[in-house]
Amino acid sequence: MKHTVQITIDGVTSDLPVLEASVGLDVVDVRSLIQKGLYTYDPGFLSTAACESAITYIDGDAGVLTYRGYPIEQLADQAEHLEVCYLLLHGELPSASEFAAFKQDIADRMPIDEHFANLFSGFTSESHPMSMLCAAVAGLAAQFHDGLDIYSAEHRLESAKQLIAKIPTLAAMSYRKSIGAAFVPPDPSLGYAENFLNMCFGTPGQAPNVSATLASALDKIFILHADHEQNASTSTVRIAGSTEANPYAAIAAGIAALWGPSHGGANEAVLDMLNEIGSVDRVSEFVARAKDKEDPFKLMGFGHRVYKNFDPRATVMQSSCHAVLAEQGVENEPLLEVAKALETIAREEDYFIERRLYPNIDFYSGITLKAMGIPTPMYTALFALGRMPGWIAHWSEMLSAPFKIGRPRQLYLGPASRDFIPLNER
Ligand code: SDX
Repeated sequence: MKHTVQITIDGVTSDLPVLEASVGLDVVDVRSLIQKGLYTYDPGFLSTAACESAITYIDGDAGVLTYRGYPIEQLADQAEHLEVCYLLLHGELPSASEFAAFKQDIADRMPIDEHFANLFSGFTSESHPMSMLCAAVAGLAAQFHDGLDIYSAEHRLESAKQLIAKIPTLAAMSYRKSIGAAFVPPDPSLGYAENFLNMCFGTPGQAPNVSATLASALDKIFILHADHEQNASTSTVRIAGSTEANPYAAIAAGIAALWGPSHGGANEAVLDMLNEIGSVDRVSEFVARAKDKEDPFKLMGFGHRVYKNFDPRATVMQSSCHAVLAEQGVENEPLLEVAKALETIAREEDYFIERRLYPNIDFYSGITLKAMGIPTPMYTALFALGRMPGWIAHWSEMLSAPFKIGRPRQLYLGPASRDFIPLNER
């Protein structure tokens, strides 16, 4: 097994160590390069491992995704989202008693106190739920910042429980504010996804009445979104956390990064795109636009930095999507016909095949969430809700071992040093 690679600079050859992965690609340790007067250059980090991690593994060519070694297909089929939260945080599946205690801990921490709820009065029904969610999570720092020792494993676990518990409540409050409706408090007798749906669509003071099929489908959607290695928002959480910022600030930074349509905002952008296309006979016009380099339009929900054959989450989501559509009786939804036409073209057209652009998780989650009656502006907030355990597991993993503040360098192409010219001489 290779243990070094050689590099020759100005005729001098030296060895760079190769660090071995437990699964997947090994890495060349380039930390000594700066002593040799060189940086590495990798905009977008296509070939860069920014950290060590034992949480999630992705093989983009084989379409493999595992959380702590467990395949996503098995977890989506057999686990509950809170079970996956425990697994991501602790590294092992919980025993029955551990799981019962964890679920109780989360239920106990779901309520938001009335004073904090006043934060939402600063928003209007025009405010996007993600703007409210970002502000609310950052605001939790005001409530939980004091006495928080980020180097204490116990304090990190408490922050994790607070964030996993409060994100569904805050997301539901963001939705209720956006429709001008009164908040529905969490109900400790309900499951995690069921509680979220009741806080969104229930009536204050009335008994919950949530579809078990929809709650089960949503819980699966949360599992599929729970973590994804060093994606843009998780890397943002790690960089923010590396400055020793508190976890609420670091997670709020991750929520902000997720919002972009190239990342978690894609599920909402998929529905906006399907609505803009409107009918099957306009699909070819938009596919042509997606291929036109002069046109910034891209097919939302297609392509992925890592998956180059298929997104295993999309495969699971696709079957879940059909189950929800059947239950909701919307199998012939016109937008679904447009989506199916796009899917067919993307699998047949050279442009997409050559660039290995396939439907990703956001393509199917957007359609599934629409079939579930979830309002489009809430889609990315749901992505943030599902991704919470992954973000906080990576934050905690980083803080549990020696780390350095994230501070990349650059290839400088600006002017060399020059003297200032006084205004009266310019
Ligand atoms: C998520 O990283 C993660 O793990 C993210 C995520 C997670 O769980 O955290 O999986 C969640 O963010 C999924 C991706 C959601 N985004 C979208 O669906 C938006 C549409 N997709 C694109 O923006 C794009 O595919 C990205 C951002 C997802 C990936 O971009 P890359 O890896 O930087 O690829 P690229 O932009 O270099 O594209 C390679 C080629 C280019 O053409 P050429 O210059 O080679 O001719 O493919 C083209 C691109 O123009 N291309 C597309 C396209 N995506 C890439 N052309 C049309 N439509 C698209 N969607």
